[in-house]
Parts: sequence; C-alpha cells; structure tokens
Amino acid sequence: MSEKKILLSGSRPTGRQHLGNYVGALKQWLELQDECDCYFMVADWHALTNSYNDTSSLPENTRLQTIDWLSTGLDPEKSTIFVQSAIKEHAELSLLLGMFTPLGLAERCTSWKDQVIEQGNEVLRTYGFLGYPVLQSADILMYQANIVPVGKDQVEHIEKTQDIAQKVNVRYGDVFQIPEWRLSHSPALLGNDGRKMSKSYGNCIYLAENDKEVWEKIRVMVTDPARVRKTDPGDPEKCSVWDYHKVFTPKDRWDEIQTNCKTAGWGCMECKKVLNEAVKAELDPMRERRAKIEEKPGYWKEVLEHGNGVARNRARETMARVREKLHLYPGDSQ
Ligand code: TRP
Ligand code: SF4
Repeated sequence: MSEKKILLSGSRPTGRQHLGNYVGALKQWLELQDECDCYFMVADWHALTNSYNDTSSLPENTRLQTIDWLSTGLDPEKSTIFVQSAIKEHAELSLLLGMFTPLGLAERCTSWKDQVIEQGNEVLRTYGFLGYPVLQSADILMYQANIVPVGKDQVEHIEKTQDIAQKVNVRYGDVFQIPEWRLSHSPALLGNDGRKMSKSYGNCIYLAENDKEVWEKIRVMVTDPARVRKTDPGDPEKCSVWDYHKVFTPKDRWDEIQTNCKTAGWGCMECKKVLNEAVKAELDPMRERRAKIEEKPGYWKEVLEHGNGVARNRARETMARVREKLHLYPGDSQ
C-alpha cells in the first residue's frame, strides 16, 4: 500500500484545452502528480447533464482532451487517467448517495439556482442536472480521495460531497474518506477580449495552437483601457496581460514589466512580445509531446483503457465495502 495521499480530479470533455484549463486545473494536477496517487477523470456523464440533446461530439472531445492532457505531461505511468462512463460503479454509488441527499442540498447548487430557478431554463430542469453534485460526490468518494483540486466554482460541490459522506459515515461507520478541496494558486485568466475565457466566446488561446495563432491572440489582447497612446502610463493591475505575465513570465522580469508599464517606458506591443516568448516557452514542450503522441493514433485510447482497468479495480473494492456496510446484497463476484 502506498502512503501517498489520493487525489481525484476531472473535467467534462470539452475537446481542445485552453490556457484557462491549463492554469485553472492542469498545472496544479502536474505539480501534484509525483506527490499524490492521482486519478484524472474524463467526466463524460457530467457532460450529459446539460447537453443530453446532442452527444455526437463526445467521442472527439474525449480524444482531443485526453491528447491535450497527455501533452501537458500528465503521465499514465504515474497517474490513472480514465473515463467516468467506463466505470459503471459510479452510477451505482451515485444512486446510493442520492438516498442520503436532501433535496435542499442539491437545490442549493449555484448553477441550479441561477439557470433553473432564476432563468427558468427548462432544458436543465431534469433529475440528472439536479443530481450533478451527487454524481460528482460518487466520483470522489469512489477513490477515497483525500484531495480534490478544483476551481473556485467547484468548491461548493466538494462541500456537498463532505456533507453527504458524513451523513453516511455517521450512520454506517467509516465508509468514506472525507475529501478536501484544493484551489489552484494561479489567478484565473481572462480571454483575450477581457471577458471570462470560454470556448463559446472564441476568446481562448489553445494549447495546441501554433506560434503564429497564439501571437495573433496575444497581439489583440485587451489592455489597461487608460493606455490609449504609447505615452500614457498604464496600471498593470487593470490589465489582463499582467495576469498572464504572473503565470508565465519568470519572476525576475516582473519589476521591469511593471515599471515599464507605469512609466510608459514601453508600449503594450513590447510588453506582449515578452509575454508571447514566455507562453511559447511553456507551450513548446507540450507541442513536442503532442507530436509524438499523435504519431501513434491509438495511443490515447490505450492510455484510457489502461486507466479504466486500474480505476475499475479500485471502484470494485469501494463498492464491495459500501454494499457490506449498507447491508446490501454483496453483488456477483465478476
Ligand atoms: N464538475 C467538474 C467540472 O465541471 C467535473 C467533475 C466531475 C469533477 N466529477 C468531478 C471535478 C470530481 C472534480 C472531482 O469541471
Ligand atoms: Fe498591460 Fe503591459 Fe500594456 Fe501595461 S504595458 S497596459 S501591463 S500590456
């Protein structure tokens, strides 16, 4: 038995990953990959909660997301990379946890409140969408995860997982490990138009884009609106380019950047060129890895199948324990 802490995280398959995904999740996963026993999950069932009407892009999105994950350095020799829907035990555990989930707890979800109650979105008014945090709890508790790295918006889900797990533990003994969430320490990156980075806004920089494409996006990035002319001093705190610098540019250049901005010592284009170099330094090793991965078209699938096997064994152990503790029929020993 390894002494390492168990980490689980995941994301719905959205296809090509962008810098927002990288900074908000993947970068932290990579940092913890050696320290923890990691499970990284493609949450394809969760993707259905809001897009059950058209699932045709799921296979391609799963492929692209997995390739991008691997290109960042997620290593299948160290971590278990798997697909939620391949592990049927998630459905079983989700059903059981649902028995312990008060309606109020599910309805207290920000996305439920905003989209279903306030905006009256009928498409999302489903049992499945209401059960989003229950399924997510099953994902986490299945692997007895200690640590769940997530973005801010997901913290409420992990708190619900803690509540549900406690409810079971109080009644049936130590069934589940109570997980803790961990936030990424990097600031959230805005899209190049200054809005939230989102595929649907077309304002993302993708990990798989080439130098020219990346520069085109950095070149037109929104900066401090007060810097109309090159001679106007700027304020880095009002500029998303500076947020990017804080993530990608080595610290020893931060002073120079801030001074040049505040004193109008340089123009925004020069500032962006420095950023472009830093982003390139981060993306180049990913490009090399991706090229190798893409030489073997079936490789990403082999990775997932291997991961599914590892995850499934662990899931079966958990479910045997859960069934026993809950006095359920033990299940067949397949
Ligand atoms: N809800 C997460 C997202 O939208 C994806 C997810 C599903 C997840 N199950 C999880 C994240 C378990 C952390 C742990 O990104
Ligand atoms: Fe932003 Fe750099 Fe321009 Fe300052 S100089 S406003 S930090 S792009």
